[in-house]
Amino acid sequence: MAIDRSTAATATPLAFLPKSKLPAAVAWGGDAVRYVDQRELPTEVRVVSARTVEELVAAIASLGVRGAPCIGIFGAYGVALLRRTILDDVAFATAAARLRAARPTAVNLAWAVDRVLAADDMLAEAEAIHREQEAVDAAIARYGLELIPERARIITHCHTGALATGALGTALGVILAAHRAGKQPTVFIDETRPLLQGSRLTELELREAGVDAVVQVDGAAAFVMLRQNVDLVIVGADRVARNGDTANKIGTYSLAVLAAHHGIPFYVAAPRSSFDLATESGADIPIEQRDPDEITTIRGTRVAQAQARVFNPAFDVTPHRLVTAFITERGVLRPPYGESIR
Ligand code: MRU
Repeated sequence: MAIDRSTAATATPLAFLPKSKLPAAVAWGGDAVRYVDQRELPTEVRVVSARTVEELVAAIASLGVRGAPCIGIFGAYGVALLRRTILDDVAFATAAARLRAARPTAVNLAWAVDRVLAADDMLAEAEAIHREQEAVDAAIARYGLELIPERARIITHCHTGALATGALGTALGVILAAHRAGKQPTVFIDETRPLLQGSRLTELELREAGVDAVVQVDGAAAFVMLRQNVDLVIVGADRVARNGDTANKIGTYSLAVLAAHHGIPFYVAAPRSSFDLATESGADIPIEQRDPDEITTIRGTRVAQAQARVFNPAFDVTPHRLVTAFITERGVLRPPYGESIR
C-alpha cells in the first residue's frame, strides 16, 4: 500500500461483510420498488420493498436509498408504481408531487419524475432512465480516466459508487476505471460526517474492488494534502447550476478550498441529469436541512446534549471558480462554465 504507514492504520475487518457483490441498489419489483437499505450498510445487507407513496418518500428522505442519480431512478420507478396503484388522477398527481419533493437538492429526482410523468408508458420510461445510467456512468469513467495519472493519490468525499447511481458510479466509477486500467490509484476517503457515507459505503465498494484505500476523518483532508502528495480531488454532485456552482455533500466546499490552497486539481464527475440549466447560480439551489439528531447522536448513541442547537445542512455549494473541470458523459467541461455547460 502506497499510503504513509506512520499515519495509516487498519481497522479490524468485519467478519460479517458479504463476500459476494452487493445486490442492485434499486430494482423494479412488479408490485413494489426494491432497494438496498443503505442505512444498514456495511454491517447488514437488507433489500426492502416500497409500495406506497409514504414508503417511497420515507425511503428517500431517510437515505435508505440515496445518491443523486439513484434517487432519480428510484423516483422514476416510484411514479410508475403509483400510476398502477392510484387510479384517481388527482390523487396520483398529488402522490407524484410528494415523491418529487422527497429531497430538494439533487435535481435528478425532479428530472426523473418529470420525465416519467411526460411519458405514455411510465414503466418503460423508468426502465430507460435506469438503463441509460449504465452508459452514462461508463462514459464518465472513460473521460475521467484520461485525467487520472499513474499511481494517482486521490481524495474523495461522500459516496458516488454503484449504490449511489444504480449503475457503475460517477467519481468512484472514474477511480475504479483507473484501477482496472492498472493505474494503481491510492484513495483517501473522507468518512463524511454525519452519516458516514464515506466510511460505510465508499470504503466497502473500493475494498471489494481491490483498490488501495484508507478512511480519514473529514478534518484530516488538509493535513493529508500537505503530507501525502495528493494529486487530485474527485467528487460527485447533486446539482450543478448553469454557471457551474455545484451542490454536493456537506464538506465538499471545504475540500475545494483546500485543493485550491494546495494547488491540487478539483474535479466534479456528474451526469447531464445533475446539471440544472434552469438554476442560474448556487445561490438558487435549495439546500436540505436535516434532523439535529444526525449530529447529536451517532448510530443511536447520544454524543451531545439533546438540547444542543444544531446546524445540519446536508449539502454545501462549491463556487464554480474552484472546480478545475466537470467530467460528464459528453466529455470534460472546462471554464468558462457559462459557455461549456450550455
Ligand atoms: O445525502 P446523500 O448521501 O444522498 O448525498 C450524496 C452526495 O452528495 C453524492 O456525492 C451525490 O449525490 C453524487 S452520487 C453519484
